[in-house]
Amino acid sequence: MNKHHEVWGSRLGLILAMAGNAIGLGNFLRFPVQAVRNGGGAFIIPYLVCLVLMGIPLLWVEWSIGRRGGRLGYHSTPFMMHTLSKRPFWKYAGVFGIFNNLAIASYYCFIESWTLAYVWHSLRQTFTGLSQSEVVRHFDNYVDLTTRFLGIPGEAVFFFLICVALNTYVLSRGLKGIERVATAGVPLLILFGLFLAGKALTLGSSGATEEFPDANSWAGLEFLWKPQYHSLSDPKVWLAAAGQIFFTISVGWGMIHAYASYVRSNEDIALNGLTAGMSNEFVEIVLGSLVVVPIAAGYLGIGWVTENISFGAAFQTMPFLFGKWGPVLATFAGVMWFGLLFLAAITSSLAMGMPWMGFMRDEFNWSRMRGAVSFGVILLMMGLPTVFFYRQGFFDEYDYWAGTVSLVLFALLEIILFAWVFGIRKGWNEIVMGADIRLPGLFRYVIKYVTPLLILSVLVGAVITPEGNDWLVAFRDLFHGYGWKLDDNSLIMQLTNSALYDQIARSTDPLEIAGLKEKIFFRNMARLMLLGLFAGLCLLVRFAFVRRGKQITEES
Ligand code: ALA
Repeated sequence: MNKHHEVWGSRLGLILAMAGNAIGLGNFLRFPVQAVRNGGGAFIIPYLVCLVLMGIPLLWVEWSIGRRGGRLGYHSTPFMMHTLSKRPFWKYAGVFGIFNNLAIASYYCFIESWTLAYVWHSLRQTFTGLSQSEVVRHFDNYVDLTTRFLGIPGEAVFFFLICVALNTYVLSRGLKGIERVATAGVPLLILFGLFLAGKALTLGSSGATEEFPDANSWAGLEFLWKPQYHSLSDPKVWLAAAGQIFFTISVGWGMIHAYASYVRSNEDIALNGLTAGMSNEFVEIVLGSLVVVPIAAGYLGIGWVTENISFGAAFQTMPFLFGKWGPVLATFAGVMWFGLLFLAAITSSLAMGMPWMGFMRDEFNWSRMRGAVSFGVILLMMGLPTVFFYRQGFFDEYDYWAGTVSLVLFALLEIILFAWVFGIRKGWNEIVMGADIRLPGLFRYVIKYVTPLLILSVLVGAVITPEGNDWLVAFRDLFHGYGWKLDDNSLIMQLTNSALYDQIARSTDPLEIAGLKEKIFFRNMARLMLLGLFAGLCLLVRFAFVRRGKQITEES
């Protein structure tokens, strides 16, 4: 019940910390993949619409819940939500705002550690002279834990531990530590991004070869930026665009609330929120689309990109392509590329620690050091299985339930609470209090009606995704009386492991069956870990609530 009054050192520090929170792996790894897989220019209009009608309104809602929470002495969402409604349900809904961060950080730090390892390998020129398949093999060995580092097996484990230690250390320095990392890291990563974008833009068709005669970096850009209006009627593209918005601007997580709880009680949040959000958009839309896709298209052609782009391309393809620039420039490019990924990642993973630390400090008087170390311990407990069982699907399972479903669910709950239970009139007053800009009153209605409906449709879309994710065919079949066939990726099918059980039933190969059973086992284990974490946090909230007794702030 410690009312700690730490505040951000300066407005610039706050904006850079918030921008660093948002700018992350999502901007450079997730965005290009989503954009390419959803038709390039076909993705961009739904993406921008979701940004305006869902992302920005949620940003303002989360900043205002956070600032209000901080004013009342709360720095994480369970009790922030409790102050908006006294019904017990809401404080448990607020558990998502801690849970999402702990669960996501557990696997996010693993990717963060890849970037650190790849900075090291770029410096050592490990990739010099390697063919593309050798670069791919390097990555496969890395995540298989077969490589040795300084004689220790499991280089991946080593770098994961380093990352956890770095996060723990910076968090133990409090807001000042975060502000310092963001103030240095965000401009530096933008600088690195600009350099690589410059290389991509000047590459043109100079990388074309006999094998890839059509290679042209501009074709990559054209593919991403030429709007395709037919996508407007395809729910699949809308779902992907909405999912990207949640991930990239960090809404639905709980970390914006935590950061915003350290602003001064009358500080502007309308302009600050918008500035931090727009910085993220600049980095995502401009820099995020100017590195992987055009450079890969510049050497391998846009056809190769559309068929092969994946999250892993950043590690499996980029080092090989940088190699074409000669050993010295390749080393610089590798350090800049993986360095910018690392800076983007750490400024986000630090934010993921804050809701937990804020909660333990508010409720149990835990010191910053204790909070930071316990965050590190949770990362190890939750994260090491993703390192050891990456190939068995532990990582993907966390990413699906925590990094996808839970974000949407929490966003839906918080906006209902804010706009309908607390009430949009009071909510809007919170948002505009101390505002340095005049917000269009239209957003009042967007927050009350449009944003919740959009989020709801994203959630429903994920629960009942039709076969092949082909909504147009699914609706046509439904109207012709053929029912609704669920896709293996729909939430219902995922939950029941139906696709895997079907495969087992069809297979006659004992080895394949054993592999599938193992996959189900690891999936269920990952879910158990997530459920355990959620249940543990609920218990802590319950315990804290009982401890607080009548002291709990009654303001609403
Ligand atoms: N918003 C952060 C990202 O894009 C978490 O990675």
